[in-house]
Amino acid sequence: MIKTATHEHIAEAAEILKNGGLVGMPTETVYGLAANALDGKAVAKIFEAKGRPAFNPLIIHVSDMRHAQEYGEMSEYAQILANAFWPGPLTLIVPRKTDSGISDLATAGLDTVALREPSHPVAQGLIKTSGLPIAAPSANKSGSLSPTTPAHVHDSLGDAVDMILAAGACTVGLESTVLDVSGVVPVILRPGAITAEQIGELLGLEIAIAEAENEAPKSPGMLLKHYAPNTPVRLNAIDLEEGEALLAFGSDKFMGIKNGGRAADLPDEMRRNLSEEQDLQEAAANLFSMLKELDQSGASTIAVMAIPQIGIGVAINDRLSRAAKRD
Ligand code: TXA
Ligand code: MG
Repeated sequence: MIKTATHEHIAEAAEILKNGGLVGMPTETVYGLAANALDGKAVAKIFEAKGRPAFNPLIIHVSDMRHAQEYGEMSEYAQILANAFWPGPLTLIVPRKTDSGISDLATAGLDTVALREPSHPVAQGLIKTSGLPIAAPSANKSGSLSPTTPAHVHDSLGDAVDMILAAGACTVGLESTVLDVSGVVPVILRPGAITAEQIGELLGLEIAIAEAENEAPKSPGMLLKHYAPNTPVRLNAIDLEEGEALLAFGSDKFMGIKNGGRAADLPDEMRRNLSEEQDLQEAAANLFSMLKELDQSGASTIAVMAIPQIGIGVAINDRLSRAAKRD
């Protein structure tokens, strides 16, 4: 059931976690499906609820750097990065501490662990009140879009989650940047709001973004077809075919429909704008909800206007190209 994230309900949710249950947890990026990372059975419920392949490792959410150090080896790079970007949308892959107590299922048996301190006050409250490291993938069925509202979580997972803490829409709207700092050179496994430029500037290094792979990827989140609506997605649209829905960025004033008409003539449910002001942050926050809405419009295809490949635009284009990938 969905409950407003008051102090009392956060305390109730903390009890659910301690008793091995699942909680829908708001973070600044997307809603997470939270379980006690120390409890293998609870973590198993996450995989069951999501229908997720068991080899996919989960992000462990912690309250601060010291908490992170209980579970992972925070190298100098890792500490510099955490100091600069935590709390916030950056996940660090670091060597796992052998005596960490984190369930092997949560790390998929890897010798590394993904750690993140979320900035959302409700996520912070839940971690602190429970005193637990919290394993939480995005709170959706595997292969579908990440949820950015409590209703998305409910629609995707229903009663498989014991409680959803509702705190409105997520401000970032895209999953965190995943940065592997377990090797010699840091590599971005998944682009997000913290960009390669920001990380590179801080460390004085050129930061590479790993290529998405189709098979046996290092980060299973890199699977090409991962963020997929049911409706086909067409990228970099400059005009519309009949029957297509439009996901605009900036003005759609000059968008024409082939065989006549303008985008402005489309029925409301076939037309969304990520950001009329061409604000990339706003676009990121709107991306998943608008894709979901257009997915339900009955359109033959979702045509998406070009998004500039700068800043968080890199992460938006990463998610869009996955959504467009058909098998
Ligand atoms: O914003 C987020 O990161 C959200 C919120 C809830 O925090 N969580 C999220 O989790 O997106 P999930 O499970 O959907 O994505 C975790 C990503 C996956 O791509 C996974 O493969 C990768 O992190 N990952 C986790 N542990 C890893 C590891 N040890 N090595 C490499 N990749 C890892
Ligand atoms: Mg996910």
